[in-house]
Amino acid sequence: MTEKTTGVSPRRSQFCCYNSPPRLLDLYCGEGGAGMGYHRAGFEVVGVDINPQPRYPFMFIQGDALDYARAHGHEYDVIHASPPCQAYSVTRHALAPQYRPELIPQTRELLEYLGKPWVIENVVGAPLRWYVELCGVMFGLKTYRHRRFEMSFLVFQPEHLPHPERLTRKGRAASPGGFSNPCGHPNFAGEADIWKRSLGINWMTTRGLTQAIPPAYTEWIGNQLMPLLAVGAGNYNDKHEGRGE
Ligand SMILES: C[S@@+](CC[C@H](N)C(=O)[O-])C[C@H]1O[C@@H](n2cnc3c(N)ncnc32)[C@H](O)[C@@H]1O
Repeated sequence: MTEKTTGVSPRRSQFCCYNSPPRLLDLYCGEGGAGMGYHRAGFEVVGVDINPQPRYPFMFIQGDALDYARAHGHEYDVIHASPPCQAYSVTRHALAPQYRPELIPQTRELLEYLGKPWVIENVVGAPLRWYVELCGVMFGLKTYRHRRFEMSFLVFQPEHLPHPERLTRKGRAASPGGFSNPCGHPNFAGEADIWKRSLGINWMTTRGLTQAIPPAYTEWIGNQLMPLLAVGAGNYNDKHEGRGE
């Protein structure tokens, strides 16, 4: 597939330990929830998605994630991947197989081959080998949105505090202003704004919001990864020393 590149807005962070910000490749980037967290942690972020993503806030390349990573992964310091979760979500049986590709094993194999520090994010139920599980409550957000992260390095997982509010059976807030679970279509005027506030995201379409990781999650990971990179750590899979360089 031909790659198309749009938009550039890297910035240098005050937390950065490099002369220039480390480069992070954001595979399956969507509208950039994950990318924004890494940006806030001080990374220069470049996203790849098979679909056009005009709302993506950083440099964007349209193309197949694995094709791009095979050709260019060695140019980055870190690789994050959010493969589509439809194959692993509770609603998977409602979808024909072509709409729920199982991309985690191929993605992991390629990331291990490339030998850079890496992160694979996905939903509860996805075939991750080990993971930390993050929840909005850990970051003071008004959503639960549990997501798991398998990584080539170690990070601390915040305490998983009790959920303070119940959701309705459809995942809606039980009371106005309460917690929300952005999924499907907004039910009432203004619900998309509630979703934005609950995720800590203000630039996305409604569809982007239903797929996004709250940036607070990857900011948490990125802040722990940054000092590891500064001392040359971040990849404990040391049988691979980086390929294609
Ligand atoms: C779960 S969403 C990503 C959400 C994003 N990480 C965020 O936090 O906002 C998965 C994305 O993978 C993209 N996608 C699906 N198959 C792809 C492929 N083969 N190559 C690149 N992107 C792909 C979809 O277009 C979708 O935007």
